[in-house]
Amino acid sequence: MKYSVENRRIWFKGEIVDVNDAKINVLAPTSQFGLNVFEGIPCYWNDEQKQLYAFRLDDHYGRLLRSARLLQLDCQYSADDMKKAFIDVIRANEYDENLSVRQTLFVDGFGSWGSESPVDMFVAPIPRGRTSAEYNKKGLHCCVTSWRRISDENLSPRIKCGANYMNSRVGQREAVRNGYDTCLFMNAHGKLAEGPGSCFFMVKNGCVVTPRTTDSVLESITRATVLQIAGDLGLGIEERTVDRTELYTCDEAFLCGSAMELTPVLSVDRYVIGNGTCGKITDSLHKAYLEIATGCNAKYMQWLTGIY
Ligand SMILES: Cc1ncc(COP(=O)(O)O)c(C=O)c1O
Repeated sequence: MKYSVENRRIWFKGEIVDVNDAKINVLAPTSQFGLNVFEGIPCYWNDEQKQLYAFRLDDHYGRLLRSARLLQLDCQYSADDMKKAFIDVIRANEYDENLSVRQTLFVDGFGSWGSESPVDMFVAPIPRGRTSAEYNKKGLHCCVTSWRRISDENLSPRIKCGANYMNSRVGQREAVRNGYDTCLFMNAHGKLAEGPGSCFFMVKNGCVVTPRTTDSVLESITRATVLQIAGDLGLGIEERTVDRTELYTCDEAFLCGSAMELTPVLSVDRYVIGNGTCGKITDSLHKAYLEIATGCNAKYMQWLTGIY
């Protein structure tokens, strides 16, 4: 059966329920301290094939379980349980459109920020049209925020947990306050890290460059995908530290993530990048990404899970 977004079904603690009936107590560690780990998993509808494809599901569950392990959450769910819940809830909503699916392990009960249990799960599909404005823009004007990205020495950006997004928040709020769409963070060593909810790439002399996974970034699945596609297209790829001034002089730049796919960066700190429009390489990588994610490229079908 189809439901309105306000009454969509979500998977919550083992049951499929109306989203309005999924209640978490206000004293739970997830409510009080953001003690949860999560994934935003993209799904693409292929109308010709009448199929909905989830993108790199196993990689998302691998990262979710690593996040849970690093925070020592006592998780009772296996990757297979997660996958079953994911498929069941999408089918229950009969979705035939692009989705971003939020799959979250959270610490419930009446403990504190130090609790390791009870851990439970919800899976909430979000129709793509409803993701935030920052993610739906055609191109982004960015600033380098004065806030530093969290680091592996204090709150690791490798862990995708709710609490980490307060670092993203202060950077994003500063950017918007000052008239930009979003921000780029430098890391504790003054080198480029990433955006508040995305990874950064630039193109220099035909080579696709991105910071290393040890430069204070999330181990992004889209980042890994872009590197793979760029390599397969015969482009040069470099994972290396990136200086601030390189941002101002690169040929093309984009931010990438499951929510924003590949979105061109048109300027950084008001320095115009290239001719101020989406670059050619950015465009061809984005097209290749969409072709793969929608099930139109036979070579990459191992990345897709058909829901129906
Ligand atoms: C801080 C941060 N970096 C990068 C990404 C991109 O990661 P992915 O490509 O796995 O969605 C995200 C989005 O989840 C993020 O929040």
